[in-house]
Amino acid sequence: MTPPSALEASLELAVARGGDPQAAIYARLFALHPAMEAEFWRDTSGRIRGEMLARTLEVALDLAGAHGQPGGSWAPAFLATEIVTHEAYGIPPAIFAQFLPIVAEVIAEACGDGFTPDMRAAWDAVLAAGRVQPGVAAD
Ligand code: HEM
Repeated sequence: MTPPSALEASLELAVARGGDPQAAIYARLFALHPAMEAEFWRDTSGRIRGEMLARTLEVALDLAGAHGQPGGSWAPAFLATEIVTHEAYGIPPAIFAQFLPIVAEVIAEACGDGFTPDMRAAWDAVLAAGRVQPGVAAD
């Protein structure tokens, strides 16, 4: 299975086994960083959290090579921009950098014993490619 297919299969399995993972992902983020929940004060409907997670999953697929480029085509530049935008919202870069790992962890847990070595390898590659350097913007 190619890395993008393995990644997609893990997302499908996670949803099939545990339903929409959004609540668990944000619960994990806020458990680690309780002060961050208040940063979503404008998100009264949950739409921003939904959009942020959807974009993050697109990032993961791109980093996995879904667009023909393992390591990502547009996602590295997008992450480098978003880390700066988020700093302006009040999100420390070191916390921004933890979101992809949190997503990976929650998806792996939701897959349980269905999380295959291919899926592990695909997510590990995504996390390595998506490692944004706190405080360092892309050139
Ligand atoms: C891979 C990492 C991340 C990506 C790609 C990402 C992406 C995004 C995107 C695309 C939006 C805009 C959504 C919209 O307005 O439609 C957004 C908003 C936001 N993100 Fe993130 N995000 C990431 C990590 C984080 C983390 C760790 C936090 C910590 C709490 C955070 C806090 C926020 C907040 C508070 C907003 C809403 C800002 C506002 O308009 O009031 N993000 N994010």
